[in-house]
Amino acid sequence: MSLKRKSRELVERRAQILKGGGEKAILKQQALGKMTARERIIALLDEGSFQEYDLFARHEGRDFDMDKKNLPGDGVITGTGKIFGSPICIFAQDFTVAGGSLGSMHARKITKIMDHSLKMRMPLIGINDSGGARVQEGVNSLAGYGEIFYRNTLASGVIPQISVILGPCAGGAVYSPALTDFVFVVDKISKMFITGPEVIKTVLGEEISMEALGGARIHSEVTGNAHFYAESEKECFEQIKSLISYIPWNNKHKPRALRPRNPKNSYKIDEIVPTDPKQPYDVRDVIKAITDSSEFFEVMELFAPNIVIGYGRIDGQSVAFVANQPNVLAGVLDVDSSDKAARFIRFCDAFNIPIITLVDLPGYLPGVDQEHMGVIRHGAKVLYAYSEATVPTFTLILRKAYGGGYIAMNSRHLNADFVFAWPGAEIAVMGPEGASNIIFRKEILAAEDPEKMRRQKIKEYKQKFANPYVAAARGYVDAVIEPEETRKFLIHALEVSASKDAPQPDRKHGSIPL
Ligand code: HXC
Repeated sequence: MSLKRKSRELVERRAQILKGGGEKAILKQQALGKMTARERIIALLDEGSFQEYDLFARHEGRDFDMDKKNLPGDGVITGTGKIFGSPICIFAQDFTVAGGSLGSMHARKITKIMDHSLKMRMPLIGINDSGGARVQEGVNSLAGYGEIFYRNTLASGVIPQISVILGPCAGGAVYSPALTDFVFVVDKISKMFITGPEVIKTVLGEEISMEALGGARIHSEVTGNAHFYAESEKECFEQIKSLISYIPWNNKHKPRALRPRNPKNSYKIDEIVPTDPKQPYDVRDVIKAITDSSEFFEVMELFAPNIVIGYGRIDGQSVAFVANQPNVLAGVLDVDSSDKAARFIRFCDAFNIPIITLVDLPGYLPGVDQEHMGVIRHGAKVLYAYSEATVPTFTLILRKAYGGGYIAMNSRHLNADFVFAWPGAEIAVMGPEGASNIIFRKEILAAEDPEKMRRQKIKEYKQKFANPYVAAARGYVDAVIEPEETRKFLIHALEVSASKDAPQPDRKHGSIPL
């Protein structure tokens, strides 16, 4: 065969495979508002940067007439490409081919690209759209999942791993996304559950739709399994690109710095936080008053909104924010917000992203519910995550810092590198009202006018303890600063912490309270 004919054969073979599961299956996919697997990759990556591998891989199913079936690419597309010029590895399950079900070759293509991403130390993006384990391949499919989970775990903390749920992701298949760092979901398209509606109906006799069981909104608001919620696939890809711009390629790199920019003038840092400690406000406005171009890329926006986490830039450098949100439940720490913060802190620590903590909270949420849900165990995760962090960590006390909340929110005592406080900060065991009722109870009860006495004692307490100066006098706060000085202090803190080297005791690994 001449070289020309061989080339033509290659073109024809390629074209055949690029048709995926065929026109009918593609039309069905499109009718659901979904792109095809290849369209998704092209939409996400830098133009012309995608290089596909294992295009000609053949499935290995022999039973149930599977040997007669041609499954192009075995239902998954794998390759490498770039986002903003940064290299990434990617796989996308192709639902048009046998419902994107995972057979042994499908799994091997995924584990091969995972091995490459770990070896070459670049982020991995997995687009999930699959009916789960390929029923006809039995235990070989299950083996494939196990090998994916093993690699997810091996790569954890070495390369960023991103999962995108763009279709069904059912049964044990959900555990690969669950093991990765960030999960993206899209309204009406993403479905994630261990046991589906059919099983629930059979076993429990309950009727529930896929959407209500494990749709995008449920995982973004209720379960906390998803980190980013989008209305469309296009919006989802924009979110992935933004995330990539804030995080490094791997645990040995730092995130890429951009040209420094000032915050927008519309965010007036001295006008955001009310002096009355009971007045709510949106802590995201404080973050935007600090960051370059007032940009803040929020993570898990819809889950446990009493704590705010996400990324911004200061003087061009990528930084992470963990901030109590006084607008929701007064910014208390509870089971869900503790989990949310702790996991984020550990990711940022693993990937060299400095962490800035903004404090304004009355403490942990009291109540039987929280106690019985394990607020002790979950709350402990925050203490653990901050204490083990070796990236630069800075804390800014905006207003209230009471009790356990003061300690947990990266206090000096957990080894914060710098602790700053605004002049209105109140650092105390509890709020002035509660504290006065306890320590001045006798005087208040014995007074001719108990209410007047109570007010006087509260005032006394406030003057004595509810300020930043007691903590500053002990060195627990490094500097009391004006709100307008915040950015200047943080830029300086970043500069003088750039070479931080804080080794942990020699150990195999710690045992975080999970
Ligand atoms: C083989 C599968 C398949 C699977 C779908 N298909 N799932 N083939 N194994 N798991 C095939 C269908 O037979 C069909 O083939 C094509 O994909 C499209 O599927 P449809 O059912 O027509 O699509 P749709 O109506 O959109 O329904 C999607 C679905 C449904 C809800 C995902 O296909 C479904 O319920 N599939 C089974 C899901 C499941 O129970 N998976 C096993 C989970 S347990 P044709 O040839 O007709 O086009 C699991 C264990 C993992 O994954 C454990 C790891 C530890």
